[in-house]
Amino acid sequence: MFGFLKKDNNNKAIELDMDKIPEHIAIIMDGNGRWAQGKKLPRSAGHKAGAENVREITKECSKLGVKYLTLYAFSTENWKRSNEEVNILMKLMVEFLNKEIDELHENQVVVRCLGDITKLPEECRKTLEEAYERTKDNTGINLNLAINYGGRDEILKAVRLIAKDVLESKSNIETLDIGDVEKYLYTAGMPDPDLIIRPSGEKRISNFLLWQCAYSEFWYSNINWPDFNRNNLQEAILDYQDRDRRFGGINK
Ligand code: FPP
Repeated sequence: MFGFLKKDNNNKAIELDMDKIPEHIAIIMDGNGRWAQGKKLPRSAGHKAGAENVREITKECSKLGVKYLTLYAFSTENWKRSNEEVNILMKLMVEFLNKEIDELHENQVVVRCLGDITKLPEECRKTLEEAYERTKDNTGINLNLAINYGGRDEILKAVRLIAKDVLESKSNIETLDIGDVEKYLYTAGMPDPDLIIRPSGEKRISNFLLWQCAYSEFWYSNINWPDFNRNNLQEAILDYQDRDRRFGGINK
């Protein structure tokens, strides 16, 4: 249906199994800087190209029937970068939403931010809030932009909220279970990522979806994010479809 990506031993084209599309794909959009360096361009050009790729990969995921796409755009540790780079990234996120929001909305995409938006520049925070307000009732793919997101920070915030609820007798420490904890995460109500993709050759989780990745399948690629295209995405999904997911159990 979407063209062959690989051939089997009999030289027959293998296609994606449309009944086994991951419900939730999460991507660490890495390698923008190296992409730019390779082209003797400033890092900002890599981030710009990376932002443009968000549109393509969102479209492809939506077309394939992925229900949740979570993109790691700015971590709680990325504030360590120069002010100039941080400002460029914040500006790019605002520009991306201003440019794309009409089409995203038309395509029924729900745009939300995962992360502590209170620390973001006013314009960025406002743009993200408006994007969510406008798209929250849409029925298509959920595009989660992880901005000022850190897995540890997310869990810490959940712990604080749970402790507060326990102190106010709204929650019982003895009966608290995994499902209760999940209600306090940014991803409350969403399925865990089935597939986490990290382009650029790095093999780290980098504080991304630490709670949610318990049984995620991983895919690494040497391609830098700005060059990571629909064929690379399909290749990752094809490999995912061949995995034996046991979630700690045993398949008979
Ligand atoms: C990691 O590559 C990338 C980031 C920290 C930023 C990701 C941001 C974007 C793709 C653009 C804006 C996002 C949206 C949602 C429009 P790196 O800079 O660490 O690359 P390097 O490791 O090669 O230096």
